[in-house]
Amino acid sequence: MKLIAPSVLSANFADLRTDLEMINRSDADYLHVDVMDGVFVPNISFGFPLMVPMHKYCTKPLDVHLMIVHPEKYVERFCDAGAWSVGFHLEAVDDPLPILDLIKAKGVRTCLTINPDIDVKRLVPYLDKVDMILLMSVFAGFGGQKFIPETMDKIRFIRQEIDRRGLPTLIEIDGGVGTQNAHELFAAGADVLVAGTAVFGALDPEEAIRQMKS
Ligand code: DX5
Ligand code: ZN
Repeated sequence: MKLIAPSVLSANFADLRTDLEMINRSDADYLHVDVMDGVFVPNISFGFPLMVPMHKYCTKPLDVHLMIVHPEKYVERFCDAGAWSVGFHLEAVDDPLPILDLIKAKGVRTCLTINPDIDVKRLVPYLDKVDMILLMSVFAGFGGQKFIPETMDKIRFIRQEIDRRGLPTLIEIDGGVGTQNAHELFAAGADVLVAGTAVFGALDPEEAIRQMKS
């Protein structure tokens, strides 16, 4: 699949509705929603209050990426706030399974994610238990970082494992993605590309989304 999820982290929060309407008109497939707590990552983004306008004005599914400690305390509230998919970091929890169950019980899609310094093999036992896995291609915390090239081999590894077992699990890539590497990432087996700077920093964001998908 070739799906694009613009990251709202790079949107203009002073005029969020205009940016959301652009996303609605565009070929984007999801809106990627980055929630940071200042503890799991050294940055704070936003929380529930901004989920309200996003859910109200964005017609694309909200793909929520939690970069927080204790996701088990908050996943249900994000589901209730209109998330279409909720993801959290494997390295932030002891056992992801009960947290995945909380999300599934709400009828919301699940995603498990890892930072670049976590062994990709740790995801293997969960590939048949989630709808999507998210490989970070930068360290979670900030938009506008440089893509880490070692991500390519991890995508191929996970793609092979998913295909060998005939699983429907999607592979999402997040960080440093743009028109310069989208083609290569899809070719390596990625299904969903998150792009913040490359979309909202573009002169023509809708065209940037089209180019990444083509
Ligand atoms: C980083 C976030 C990303 C970020 C991507 O912690 O998870 O989703 O917004 O931004 P770009 O596309 O600018 O690297
Ligand atoms: Zn993200």
